Amino acid sequence: MLLEDKDRIFTNLYGLHDWRLEEAKKRGAWNGTADFIRMGHEWIIQQVKDSGLRGRGGAGFPTGLKWSFMPKEIGERPHYLIVNADESEPGTCKDREMMRHDPHLFIEGCLIASYAMKAHASYIYIRGEYVDERNNLQAAIDEAYAAGLLGKNAAGSGWDFDLYVSHGAGAYICGEETALLESLEGKKGQPRLKPPFPAGAGL
Ligand SMILES: Cc1cc2nc3c(=O)[nH]c(=O)nc-3n(C[C@H](O)[C@H](O)[C@H](O)COP(=O)(O)O)c2cc1C
Repeated sequence: MLLEDKDRIFTNLYGLHDWRLEEAKKRGAWNGTADFIRMGHEWIIQQVKDSGLRGRGGAGFPTGLKWSFMPKEIGERPHYLIVNADESEPGTCKDREMMRHDPHLFIEGCLIASYAMKAHASYIYIRGEYVDERNNLQAAIDEAYAAGLLGKNAAGSGWDFDLYVSHGAGAYICGEETALLESLEGKKGQPRLKPPFPAGAGL
């Protein structure tokens, strides 16, 4: 069944409109972000669970359930949101359309997801060959910082949040979540043994 237009989240996947902040806002980006955050960590996770959203990494794992695996309280280790934007599966090209044509929705999503999982920092690991996508994403992040949507009291939500873009060197294996973490830490991109799973012991 095809989605109805009103249910589409990313409305600029074909790049017909301007991806920059001012125009993205007119299409609904950054609309009421602080209000969502004020509803609380558990509320956001429940919304994501109820929505039936699944990960697009291949396994279709329920996203809200995955988010709920993060420790409820921050212990010795800080929490991070790691976004897998490696997209090295031949011919997929689904993630890149969001990054280059609707980066503000992507960034807003990083803030809301990070808040839900009590992370004050997030790293986007992007495929090395995606140069234009990385440039747009970084330019959108810079716009968001300048507008107070990222950084201290991000988007007026009361939550401090920093977002970084890190790029790979073109290794397919670095799209596997634990090899990605190794690479992000500056090590050789080789998968870790599981368990522990990344929600319990990640970056
Ligand atoms: C060899 C290998 C390569 C992978 N490459 C990617 C990738 O490029 N992009 C991706 O999103 N997931 C990739 N995955 C899946 C990730 O390990 C992980 O399941 C995914 O990041 C979870 O995404 P989610 O949190 O959106 O559910 C790969 C897995 C394997 C085994």
